[in-house]
Amino acid sequence: MLSRVRTGIEGFDELVLGGFPRGQTILVTGRAGTGKSTFGMQFIYKGAKVYDEPGIYVTLEESIYSILKNASSYGWDLETLEKKSQIALIDIAPAVGGQLRKIDPTDMFSTISKHWKRIGAKRIVIDPITILGLQTESPMQLRQDLIRFSSLLKQLDATVIFVTEIPEDSQSLSRFGVEEFISDGVVVLYYSRMGGIRTRGIEVRKLRGTSHKEGVFPVAIGDSGLVVVPSGKIPKLFS
Ligand SMILES: Nc1ncnc2c1ncn2[C@@H]1O[C@H](COP(=O)(O)OP(=O)(O)OP(=O)(O)O)[C@@H](O)[C@H]1O
Ligand SMILES: [Mg+2]
Repeated sequence: MLSRVRTGIEGFDELVLGGFPRGQTILVTGRAGTGKSTFGMQFIYKGAKVYDEPGIYVTLEESIYSILKNASSYGWDLETLEKKSQIALIDIAPAVGGQLRKIDPTDMFSTISKHWKRIGAKRIVIDPITILGLQTESPMQLRQDLIRFSSLLKQLDATVIFVTEIPEDSQSLSRFGVEEFISDGVVVLYYSRMGGIRTRGIEVRKLRGTSHKEGVFPVAIGDSGLVVVPSGKIPKLFS
C-alpha cells in the first residue's frame, strides 16, 4: 500500500486519500497571493511539530526574516524548531548586492543535501522553483534542469514541494509551462473574483498513482494557516 504523508493542512488530506504519496514531487501553483508559501510553510511546520518529520524550507525569493514573520502571524514558531534541528531554513537569494547571480541546480542540491544529512529531513519545499527558469535560455533547458534537480532530490527519499506561480493573465498551470510535467502531482490555489467578492479555492489537478477528489474546494487563510473545506465543492468555474 502507498505510504501517505500527512500534510498538516486542515481538510486537505481528505482530498488526497490521507496525504501525498511518500517520496513524490508536488507542484503547488497559483497566481500572486493565493497562499502558496503558506501551504509550503504549513507542510514543513506541521511535519516537524505534529508528525515528527524534519523538513527543509528553501526560500529563493522572500527573506528568512519575512518567512519567520509570516509564519509567526499564524502562530508557528519556526525559530525554535530550527534551533532544535527539526527544520532548516535556507535562503538562496539570486540577487546579491543588487546583482543577479545564476543559481546552479547542482550547487543548490549540495546545500540541501548537507542540511538533509544534518537534520534527517523527510520533507523539502523549494519556494519558488520559478527562479531557476528566470536564468535559463529556453523552456527545454529549464525542463532539463528541473529533471536533473528533481532526480537528485529523489535520492534523498523525501516528499518535495516545488512552488511555482501562474502569471495573472495566463491560463496555464505554471510560469514556464514545463514545471507541471516534471512533477508527480499538481495542486492549484485560487483567489478568484466574482463581482466584488473574492473566493479562495484549491484543486488537486494531478497526482500520479492514486485517485483524488476532483474539483475546486473552498479554502480559508486565517489565524492558524490554510484550512480546506473538503465537503464544500465550489460549483462555479474559476477564471
Ligand atoms: N496571518 C494571516 N491571517 C490571515 N490571512 C493571512 C495571514 N497572513 C497572510 N494572509 C493572507 O494570505 C495571503 C497569501 O499569502 P502567501 O504569502 O502564502 O501567498 P503566496 O501565494 O505565496 O504569495 P506570492 O505570490 O506573493 O508568493 C496573503 O496575501 C494574505 O491575504
Ligand atoms: Mg509566496
